[in-house]
Amino acid sequence: MEELRSKHLLGIQDLTREEIELIFNTADNFKEVINRPIKKVPSLRDITIANVFFENSTRTRLSFELAEKRLSADVVNFSSSGSSVKKGETLLDTVNNILAMKVDMVVMRHASPGAPHFLARNIQANVVNAGDGTHEHPTQALLDTFSIRSKFGGVEGKKVAIIGDILHSRVALSNIFALNKLGAEVMVCGPATLLPKHIKSLGVKVTLDLREALEWCEVANVLRIQLERQQVKYFPSLREYSLYYGINKQLLDSLNKPITIMHPGPINRGVELNSDVADSEHSIILEQVENGVAVRMAVLYLLASKVK
Ligand code: CP
Repeated sequence: MEELRSKHLLGIQDLTREEIELIFNTADNFKEVINRPIKKVPSLRDITIANVFFENSTRTRLSFELAEKRLSADVVNFSSSGSSVKKGETLLDTVNNILAMKVDMVVMRHASPGAPHFLARNIQANVVNAGDGTHEHPTQALLDTFSIRSKFGGVEGKKVAIIGDILHSRVALSNIFALNKLGAEVMVCGPATLLPKHIKSLGVKVTLDLREALEWCEVANVLRIQLERQQVKYFPSLREYSLYYGINKQLLDSLNKPITIMHPGPINRGVELNSDVADSEHSIILEQVENGVAVRMAVLYLLASKVK
């Protein structure tokens, strides 16, 4: 396989295993490029990309912008705060105005699930989903699985536990899709109130017991509690959550085996992860961030071949 089938990247659900592997193989080349003294290649010269963010972001937004600049694309950034969205402009009007300035690709984060799919149906430009509500975050799952592949040499057969607020997490859903497609075994772990009712139908093991998950897995991908998406109380307090689902060095040491620790960020230190774990030699959290730039370069490079 030498190219992606679609001109958009809306979700991992739409990708085949071969397409994910094509993205990984392309990212291998770009990882080598970003570790050179001269980190830039001319691959996307004459392509203009708009990063359109209707929701807060640090990592994803910076990572996409860096990836675009490393590929020599022209980049414009839009943030809904301080924009005419606040005056009542619709999503489609906002994006069409940006496209009228001759933009080829739109990278969008939005709080509403399906917003990038709506955009892809209604505009000519290529659309990349940078996170749509509680639905998908495809480039996060690609960089997470790429990081497992980099650490272990492959993803097939690896035992990966996804721990925390699964209910509100687009990262969890995209990771489950990606890990399943790549042949990993997946267990999800969290309080019952933060596990979707039909989660087993996605082909994952489920446990409420953190120790059971840690004893089973080789990799723990730890998610934060998404308080901004919670309209009701799903657990009594952060202190109690941390008592039952927080991971600290003492707990990991008691397992008598090393576990690779991942986190998509932002970390709530002292809640889901203690600093003695987040900053330990078993953590690959910053490798995930580094890999994110290479993986996003690969996605943009492959989609740009479909710009009309
Ligand atoms: N991992 C992630 O999506 O982080 P940001 O919300 O900071 O982009």
